Amino acid sequence: MRIRRCGVVYFEPREQVEFDLSLLLTGGDGLNRERRWLALAPHLGQEVEVDGDERELLGVLSPGQWIEIDSIEADADTLARLLREGLVISDAPEHADMRERDESLRRTYWHPLAATLHAFTRWSGVDTVQNQKDSGTETAVAMRQVLGAPPVEAVRRADDDARVRLPRIAPTSFDDLLARRATCRNFDASRTLPFDTFAQVLQRVFAAQAEVRVTDDTVFLKKNVPSGGGLHPMECYLIVQHVDGVAPGLYHYQSQEHALEPLPAPAKPLREFVMDMVAQQHWFADAHVVVLLSPRFDRTFWKYRHHAKGYRVIALEGGHLSQTLYLAATDAGLGAFITGAINEVELEQAFGLDPIHQGALAICGFGWRGPVMETAELDPAERVWQRADG
Ligand SMILES: Cc1cc2nc3c(=O)[nH]c(=O)nc-3n(C[C@H](O)[C@H](O)[C@H](O)COP(=O)(O)O)c2cc1C
Repeated sequence: MRIRRCGVVYFEPREQVEFDLSLLLTGGDGLNRERRWLALAPHLGQEVEVDGDERELLGVLSPGQWIEIDSIEADADTLARLLREGLVISDAPEHADMRERDESLRRTYWHPLAATLHAFTRWSGVDTVQNQKDSGTETAVAMRQVLGAPPVEAVRRADDDARVRLPRIAPTSFDDLLARRATCRNFDASRTLPFDTFAQVLQRVFAAQAEVRVTDDTVFLKKNVPSGGGLHPMECYLIVQHVDGVAPGLYHYQSQEHALEPLPAPAKPLREFVMDMVAQQHWFADAHVVVLLSPRFDRTFWKYRHHAKGYRVIALEGGHLSQTLYLAATDAGLGAFITGAINEVELEQAFGLDPIHQGALAICGFGWRGPVMETAELDPAERVWQRADG
């Protein structure tokens, strides 16, 4: 049997601090501190605690060069555990699963730090609303009390008299559109969204507008948003809830065909499923259309191999799509939102995404705004709610 180390692994010396009353009663500070070494290997997607021997052995093995297992002096149990956990890879059939995951990561050309960040910042089963309640940070006033004052709202680098004042240009219809953009947290599930409005928003935000065919297998799309390397890695997955003529359910949007591709329904009722995906943010649960921004990392990393900026570029693209979605929705008289507080693991399972190749980056949505503001929206100039009331 030949072995080598997995392609990417980082070690973290982690300290866990827990309150222990007995320590307080015996004159201590009441805190029990435990330190342990964790191996963070992105192809595994979960941390593995390792001891000193295991850590040392992983430092001895090459990630690139295969060696015969008998050629190194290592404790058999230590090696067997590392093989079982997938930190050491072998060419034996019984370790094929771990070898395939490791090779899959290598083939995707992730920057190793980005792969690790991505793998270990995914959520599963998180209830962000409860977490805010528990930390007493539900409102802006409560946040100020608990967290203290934030850094100043906008930086000033010159004295008043040194500032070069710019003219305020008279607003056009574009300024009006921008001013009516506000994150919507009050959707009206009693109204359905017209099919054509739904199609128009998707066409403006996600559709391929033209293409450049370099060869039959190398095609670049032109869209209404910029994209690093022109690669447009972002796929659009949909949870359609209240749209005329579209059966509620999960879909993939095919950007060249401007078409919906139906996917298997989730095990739960759709609204409950949306709640789980947006980490229990009930103010988004009635959105007529929920959009998962799902980057294909392998598409961008095909060009930007092991690139220090690749992952950042993909995250930036989420912002471009989201702002375009907000404006397209606002133009259609609708509200829109984005949230980064999502349960990626459940999203990957529901949409059949392998996180090494294709991720869950953010969730957006759009639909009719309701008549009553039950959850706060940021509209200090009353450009949205005044219109709704008047
Ligand atoms: C990347 C990103 C993530 C966000 N995540 C959330 C979220 O989890 N929940 C939420 O209610 N709003 C979320 N928002 C919306 C912001 O709270 C909102 O943009 C901000 O309060 C300013 O309000 P405005 O968009 O109406 O101008 C997010 C915005 C961005 C850009």
